[in-house]
Amino acid sequence: MSGTARTVSVNRVDGRLKVTGAARYAADQPVERLGYGYLVLSTVARGTIRAMDVAAAERSPGVLAVYTPFQSLALRGGGNPFSVGHSWLPLQDAEVRYHGQAIGLVVAETFEQARDAAALVRADYEVRPAAVSFTDGIPGATDPGPFMGEPARLEFLADGVDSIDEALAASEVTVTGTYQQPGKHHSAMEPHACVADWQGGQLVLYSGTQSTSLTVGTMAAALGIEAAQVRVVSPHVGGGFGNKIATWAHPLLAAAAARTLGRPVKVVLTREQTFTVSGNRSAVRQTVSLGARRDGTLVAVKHQVWSSQSASGGIFESSAHTTSRYLYKTENLHLDQKIVTLDVPPPTWMRAPGQESGSFALETALDELATELRLDPVELRLRNNATVYPGRNVPWSSKHLAECYRVGAQRFGWDRRNPVPGAVVRGEWLVGMGTATANYPGERFPASVQVRFQPDGDVSVSSATADLGTGMWTVLAVLGAQALGLPISRVRSDLGDSTLAANIGAFGSGATASTGPAVAAAAQAAITALITLAVTDERSPLHGVPAADVRYDQGQLVAPDQRIAFPDLLRAVDSPGVGATGTAAPGPEHGQHAFTSFGAHFCEVRVNRFTGEPRLSRITTVIDGGAIINAKTARSQIVGAVIFGIGQALLEGAVVEPETGRIANGNFADYLLPVNADVPAIDVHFLNHPDLLFNPLGARGIGELGTVGVAAAIGNAVHNATGRRIRELPITLDKLLA
Ligand code: MOS
Repeated sequence: MSGTARTVSVNRVDGRLKVTGAARYAADQPVERLGYGYLVLSTVARGTIRAMDVAAAERSPGVLAVYTPFQSLALRGGGNPFSVGHSWLPLQDAEVRYHGQAIGLVVAETFEQARDAAALVRADYEVRPAAVSFTDGIPGATDPGPFMGEPARLEFLADGVDSIDEALAASEVTVTGTYQQPGKHHSAMEPHACVADWQGGQLVLYSGTQSTSLTVGTMAAALGIEAAQVRVVSPHVGGGFGNKIATWAHPLLAAAAARTLGRPVKVVLTREQTFTVSGNRSAVRQTVSLGARRDGTLVAVKHQVWSSQSASGGIFESSAHTTSRYLYKTENLHLDQKIVTLDVPPPTWMRAPGQESGSFALETALDELATELRLDPVELRLRNNATVYPGRNVPWSSKHLAECYRVGAQRFGWDRRNPVPGAVVRGEWLVGMGTATANYPGERFPASVQVRFQPDGDVSVSSATADLGTGMWTVLAVLGAQALGLPISRVRSDLGDSTLAANIGAFGSGATASTGPAVAAAAQAAITALITLAVTDERSPLHGVPAADVRYDQGQLVAPDQRIAFPDLLRAVDSPGVGATGTAAPGPEHGQHAFTSFGAHFCEVRVNRFTGEPRLSRITTVIDGGAIINAKTARSQIVGAVIFGIGQALLEGAVVEPETGRIANGNFADYLLPVNADVPAIDVHFLNHPDLLFNPLGARGIGELGTVGVAAAIGNAVHNATGRRIRELPITLDKLLA
């Protein structure tokens, strides 16, 4: 029953709920007697609040309470970037660490009343000078200390080589480039929202989250209660992209206010508030130097990174350790990660944290090297393909990057590329093609699933995991159906509730890889429980048959001379249902291989000769992510990830006002995201080679992979179209006209 998944292509089982509006996201939960909370945010970037005038807000119609650092809701412990996103807890002190920090909560009878009253709150600040300019902070950058198990400054040198600069100087060909990108925002379609409802001493928290279990732990610690007193419910999440792993200020304050007020409280962040109350992606500057032989063999790679970090703490973008660290073979490697600590909102994990920015620098530098060598960019990558994880001497479990390039080049028609930049003109458009590699590690976590046979003939497959639009509702149903030999229509999945079988949730692209094997384990355990019931219950037609003589076959139990469908058995013995929980986790064999998903992007762009406007014509992406469970939702993942990359390449970037530290474009009118008119035809192809050394399903996970390398592929195509190398994202027409 277990073993490699069979790829299917089915619609989302939650699709009807979503398109009819029946799917309940956090803010949609029908809870009686709601109080509506609205956050008050700081209007300076750094300082101490001397006093807050809340009198007008308190007198405002419908207001139930106004909380500030001076009339506070007590929270316990401290902050932590891994739990609450930053190093402090909201309203527990009068410090302002960045513009747009939560400094108050107004609760009223309606959302509008709360919002209006929040506008009446006045804060008197003792303002201190704030450092908000990333560029200005670079000379003062510091070493963040070890992370991801390795030092921030990491070097491997060949015998007899004394420094990376010596190796570069001795190389036949070298290229060096400095690559920059602004800070970015996750921009999930569903803004952060929660409803906190105390039922006796028990908190029920509806909150869009990637991890109900991490949220339980964070809430319990901050509220000073037991984890068993918190239930987190999050059946549908409208996008997370890493921003719904941490529990930001709003659920902490909503739950504390609800406890004090004795009625449930809902807090929904406005779109503008999501830009500062929840995390972002670091601004990044990188310098990459490559040294190679004339035949294209890399001999030296030097990759220096400066990432913005918040004085509040946060998860900074680690661009070199996630890309140049292992992507290609080289005798000499030097990585150096630094952080630029600023009085700005905290960065956090954002889809392919590290890889996204790192691939832009490395994969652009490789294109610059290919140009210098007059070598095809695909050929350059194939010549430097690594088969053993550099510096660790372990092979990859399953790596088919070369096949990604071969298949992608063919599907895309790469042989029609003219290697001479600016040589292809169609009317007013310059046309070019570019390519780049995608990479993301295979991650796997322990996970549990419950499978339960029900008297109505359905089987439930449930786990406390999350579906951020990623397809997990459907994956549970597909894998449950495969493990039990039943049609998908008879499997009911359930997820997004911390009281279901233990599961850390959805991040690191590891949800399917972690939860999938547990479905098979749970199905086996449930079958054993069903057989045990059948042979031990006196009312069962199989009573007394040796268990070893009974086998399960497509919803029926088969004994030597009889056969009974499980709903008939359950009804015969008057059972409400029988099931079991199964757990799967990576074993010690995991140390013997490196696990990475790969891909290759190919894209064609046109750049207007007169206006400089870049437009995408088409993209082909070939994915080596192991076995694919549901081709339809998997394709949707990759299409979404490529679009994420288009935003990075051509549109997105936070603008921080130097005088105030305010994010000047923190709204969807000014922070540009790809819309349908920006998105070309995207051809997605899965190699679908099961990785059975990784897990019994052979599936490695694909949620983040598809965005890695997109910006470089687009930039490389822009260079091929125009001869212009744009090393600063986003690639906008002003840079192409200049
Ligand atoms: Mo991902 S950035 O681990 O949600």
